[in-house]
Amino acid sequence: SLLMASKGTHALSLKIIAECSTTKARTCKMKLPHYVVDTPVFMPVGTQGTLKGLLPQQLEELDCKIMLGNTYHLGHRYICIGKSWRSTQDSGGFQMVSLLKLAEITEEGVKFESPHDRSEMMLTPEKSIEIQNSIGADIIMQLDDVVHSCVTGPRVEEAMYRTIRWLDRCIAAHKRPHDQCIFPIVQGGLYPDLRKKCAEGMYQVFAIGGLSGGEEKSQFWKMVTISTDILPKEKPRYLMGVGFAIDLVKDIYAKDFRPIDENCKCSTCQQYTRAYLHTVVQTETVACQLVTVHNVAYQLDLMRSIQQSIVEDRFPEFIRRFFNKQFPNKD
Ligand code: GUN
Ligand code: ZN
Repeated sequence: SLLMASKGTHALSLKIIAECSTTKARTCKMKLPHYVVDTPVFMPVGTQGTLKGLLPQQLEELDCKIMLGNTYHLGHRYICIGKSWRSTQDSGGFQMVSLLKLAEITEEGVKFESPHDRSEMMLTPEKSIEIQNSIGADIIMQLDDVVHSCVTGPRVEEAMYRTIRWLDRCIAAHKRPHDQCIFPIVQGGLYPDLRKKCAEGMYQVFAIGGLSGGEEKSQFWKMVTISTDILPKEKPRYLMGVGFAIDLVKDIYAKDFRPIDENCKCSTCQQYTRAYLHTVVQTETVACQLVTVHNVAYQLDLMRSIQQSIVEDRFPEFIRRFFNKQFPNKD
């Protein structure tokens, strides 16, 4: 990997704007070929190349600068997307493992049965990068061997070493290092020593994978802490698979004529009541749009507030308040 040391990382630069004085939190300007993104940032998932049910114009209105696409769906159905540069592209293996029961992983790649015509297909590191190169997102992900975070034993170590080997193959196959940045992914399950070995075996690590699969929260945070200590400070950090588990929709009541959130400036909260959304959510696809606009606006706002709190060095206080509001009955 060291030979390849910086191939595919020129497409990105990071400027630290402010750091929290008591935690590892920081806010940065991440410069990508097509955009400058303020971090920390939430990347909504746009599985088919756009956010489910939203028009590109609605993304614009939400000031959403970055989203996550995935290679499996796009690669498989050959969907061509406009503005693909807005996004980060996941490598595909993870989706296969999480979506398809029939996926089988060998050294060559991930073998799976096509859900469309049941034919056998193989996603190799080279194929994953080829698809991601042709789509052209600013950030692309290596193909990694992902095991569920609750799996223990030798399989975790095998997957970790295979992820290192696949990174080498991905970098060798990468044809657009000048305008697409490839993110290596640290694996190693819940084993600190494996996480460290993985990071040492890669030239650099940007992403933390293999978590948020139902492990204990305390273990999750322990692994995030260990991993962030390993990750290079001058590079971005991508914690994969994380979305705050806030189910906004569950607050909608039939006779509640308030907006979802009185403080929210999104177009949904400006125009619709919970009662209305409650009625249409079961029947109308437009409800999906309206609720998604709010949910994405909420997540993006939250991240902007976090950025602001880091700049003003009151991040821990912000987090304390946030949790007190979310879980009023707990300490
Ligand atoms: N999404 C959430 N977790 C992961 C992971 O470990 N690897 C990949 N490729 N995608 C993910
Ligand atoms: Zn809203």
